[in-house]
Amino acid sequence: MSELPSPEDAREQFLKDLAETESAAQNRGGLLPVDISNLQVRWLGKKQGIVTGLLARLKDVPKEEKARFGGSVNSLKREIEARLEALGTEAERRAARQAEEARAVDVTLPARLRPVGRLHPLTVVRRRIEAAFKNLGYEVADGPEIETDWYNFESLNFPQNHPARDAVDTFFVKGGGPGKDRLLLRTHTSPVQMRVMERKRPPIRILSPGRVFRKDDIDPRHSPVFHQVEGLTIDEGITFAHLRGTLAAFARSFFSERAEVRLAPTFFPFVEPGVDVAVSCVFCERKGCRICSGSGWIEIMGAGMVHPRVLEAGGIDPERFTGFAFGMGIDRITMLLYGIPDLRLLFENDVRFLDRVWN
Ligand code: PHE
Repeated sequence: MSELPSPEDAREQFLKDLAETESAAQNRGGLLPVDISNLQVRWLGKKQGIVTGLLARLKDVPKEEKARFGGSVNSLKREIEARLEALGTEAERRAARQAEEARAVDVTLPARLRPVGRLHPLTVVRRRIEAAFKNLGYEVADGPEIETDWYNFESLNFPQNHPARDAVDTFFVKGGGPGKDRLLLRTHTSPVQMRVMERKRPPIRILSPGRVFRKDDIDPRHSPVFHQVEGLTIDEGITFAHLRGTLAAFARSFFSERAEVRLAPTFFPFVEPGVDVAVSCVFCERKGCRICSGSGWIEIMGAGMVHPRVLEAGGIDPERFTGFAFGMGIDRITMLLYGIPDLRLLFENDVRFLDRVWN
């Protein structure tokens, strides 16, 4: 360090350095600890510090000058130390305050509202149906949406080429085998009956909601994808009276205390006897209105006593066990309950529709 200034010039320089550092720190709100330690290194640093350099030069100063030179350098050193210490304390406080402000929540800012999701009406209705049957001791079971011909038709007593298969237009899926191994999108939730019989022994009481598929054209009452809930009860001594009582209890808990059910004979290959189930119109209490087309009754499901051949296919002895099954359309019940005029509203995902509160 040959170019060291005199102690007096050094003092001038220090004050200038400090002033410049302060003005540079202005837009950060003032000096921060990092500025102080930079000044410390520059002026008092053990290796390159200017004051340290001046002290080291003391030995080269002529004898008669030594006392004065040494005194000025030492007093400069003490002055700088004192200034930096005071400024350092201030800088520490400033830094702490800034950190705290950065963490603080400004409670006067307007809240950022998040859009709130809602349950789809089909979900609301499905859960209500599940709740009604859970109260009667039913458990929810699940089955695949891609099924084989065996589960969807054959095991449910629809023989190959039987005309009952023509009642539903089926989507077939590539990649399956021939005959009963053919793959398809299930046309109803009834294949879950067979899946449950395979893995569970009676007593069986299950409920199985899910998507089903039929090759129907889209219109206000039809969609190629819709929803059903299957129910199955199998035990010793189950009779048609249990079927009727169960459905009546469901109608009372789901629709209204005063709801009644009406059964009319019909045909499904997998039940015998089979019935169409109607519930008394909850809107007019059987007086007849627009919703029930003046009849006082609304058809909500198919049902019947499980066919002995279906029990056999499921490995259950039809001599010992009997049971009943039912299947209802969730979409239709949802439209009825909420007065939704067009099935397509349930599938088009229009937020103006979805944002309504269904319960
Ligand atoms: N699976 C039948 C349908 O889709 C409904 C049904 C289920 C009927 C169970 C009787 C028993 O129409």
